[in-house]
Amino acid sequence: MVQASAPGKCILFGEHAVVYGQPAVAVAIDQRMSVSLALNEDWRIDGMSFHPQRHPHVEALRQRLWEGGPPLSVKILGDIPPASGLGSSAALSVAASAALRCARGRQIKDDDWAEGWTAARPNKVYDGPWEVAKGDDVEYGAQSVDEDECAILTHAVEAFAQGGRASPMDSSTCAHGGCIVLSDKVEDDLNWLYSRKLNDVSWEVHSVDLGEIDDVWLVIGSTGVHAPTSEQVAKVAALLEKQPEKMQEIETIGIVSRRGIAALMRGDMDAVGRAMSENHLLLRNIGVSCPELESLIAAAAPTSLGVKLTGAGGGGCMIALTRDPKLTSEAIELAGGRTLISKLGAAGMRVDNDENSPLWDPFE
Ligand code: MEV
Repeated sequence: MVQASAPGKCILFGEHAVVYGQPAVAVAIDQRMSVSLALNEDWRIDGMSFHPQRHPHVEALRQRLWEGGPPLSVKILGDIPPASGLGSSAALSVAASAALRCARGRQIKDDDWAEGWTAARPNKVYDGPWEVAKGDDVEYGAQSVDEDECAILTHAVEAFAQGGRASPMDSSTCAHGGCIVLSDKVEDDLNWLYSRKLNDVSWEVHSVDLGEIDDVWLVIGSTGVHAPTSEQVAKVAALLEKQPEKMQEIETIGIVSRRGIAALMRGDMDAVGRAMSENHLLLRNIGVSCPELESLIAAAAPTSLGVKLTGAGGGGCMIALTRDPKLTSEAIELAGGRTLISKLGAAGMRVDNDENSPLWDPFE
């Protein structure tokens, strides 16, 4: 068996405004998705027949990393609620791409990778299919897996599943873990990782080193209301067209995000919380909150440093930054929300088991 896992994410600052080029910040959360692979007589997912249309993410990755390979039994486990704005599909894709790469290995030539997708080695970006030269060296198991490749593939798969519209926020945060900042320009004070481009939009992706944070937690409260991201994004676009002066709210979200990033970097969690609450008021002003979110936010506020909706809004989840996660969680549950507790900036993609790698050797 080969197994890999990846964390979910939540957005601390800048959702919606990021669509218009403003900076946004996400952190990886403790909840993860895990994918394990084993050779099998036919393709199976969690013991059931594999229907590509029911699992578009797995199918898209199978086409990119496993074309011509033997059938697999794929097992998916995880504690990230689906369709809740917490990155469950990106975490699944990152974990699946890591597991598939681990299960097939990577060809190397002249001591460098000769195939695959990677931003860290820009002169080595191949977009496949590749010519596999028999007899060249191959790296197997965890050593062949690369976070950048998992992020690139996951962004492509997410874009495919969302009709061409997806920022690299989820894919990069679920692959690298920690804290990720997107902006339309390279930010001087941050650790720039790479650029991403999709259709006509481009993003500069950075990481922020949060250090060890052990005195504040995120409590995530789910409303249970399902609100598709694409509808919320379209709603904001329609509002801006009708009332162009609302663009000021979008720009102010950008200013608040920058203040939040500076506070995160100096470890001033009280200021991070204040910026989160301010960000929420601006999100409310552009019409993406809802009564269910407002009631969970009101319940969490008295015991929190900051509260806001996270993700697209209209339902989905809110987050509270708190020094007393038990108390805040109880308050949210009493108001009718389901809660999860997480530290800020969990570890990124991880290979959990590569004992049987390779499951398939296309280089033999
Ligand atoms: C959704 O999680 C975040 C949005 O900003 C959309 C996006 O960034 O693609 C609402």
